Amino acid sequence: MLKRLFVLIFTALVPCFFMPQALAVSDTLVVYFSRAGNQINGDISEGNTAIVARLIAKELKADLFEIKPKTDNYNLEYRELTDLARDEKEKGLRPEYMGQIENLDSYSTVCIGSPVWWGDYPMIMYTFFEKNDLNGKTLIPFATHEGSGLSGFDLRLKDLYKSAEVLQGLALKGSMVQSDRAYAEKEVRNFLSTLGK
Ligand SMILES: Cc1cc2nc3c(=O)[nH]c(=O)nc-3n(C[C@H](O)[C@H](O)[C@H](O)COP(=O)(O)O)c2cc1C
Repeated sequence: MLKRLFVLIFTALVPCFFMPQALAVSDTLVVYFSRAGNQINGDISEGNTAIVARLIAKELKADLFEIKPKTDNYNLEYRELTDLARDEKEKGLRPEYMGQIENLDSYSTVCIGSPVWWGDYPMIMYTFFEKNDLNGKTLIPFATHEGSGLSGFDLRLKDLYKSAEVLQGLALKGSMVQSDRAYAEKEVRNFLSTLGK
């Protein structure tokens, strides 16, 4: 009798031990590319897009994946970098990045963040897009820039992933994000609430 009672109580308690872990698994992923170092507004330790990516991930309790170049060609002075980026774009290069996303299938929503480079995604973003099929998912683009805005990132995603649902995007001025975190936080929160997130 006592043994049966013990088994009963134990069986009832088991889900309680495992539930928190099950709940901790996120169905949202934030993917981003960003560059610390020498920028138009000084030598910075955390890239502008990285700041926004972390804020979004925090708000949505999402996982983060950073697209990190395999060879760090981008650790250059600002002008040199703009020349290199233009060359990559003209040649349609696909710079490699490190690692890969585990369990891409488990995410139904993917927020995709990138700086605007020459009015477009940096070429390393296309390397990512070509390696990862995001069809069937909800995609939320976000960008940091110095005047170009979202630069059609939403349209580019729609074009790349015909059966994804691409939501309205967020574009923030990188120098504002860098110099005023409270502004960045407010913008991110407002944006997510307009999406009903
Ligand atoms: C190579 C390069 C090209 C850029 N091209 C543009 C551009 O076309 N339009 C724009 O508004 N900003 C442009 N910028 C500014 C960046 O988009 C902006 O500083 C951004 O916030 C940088 O993000 P990060 O710190 O996450 O790398 C460019 C910056 C670099 C380095």
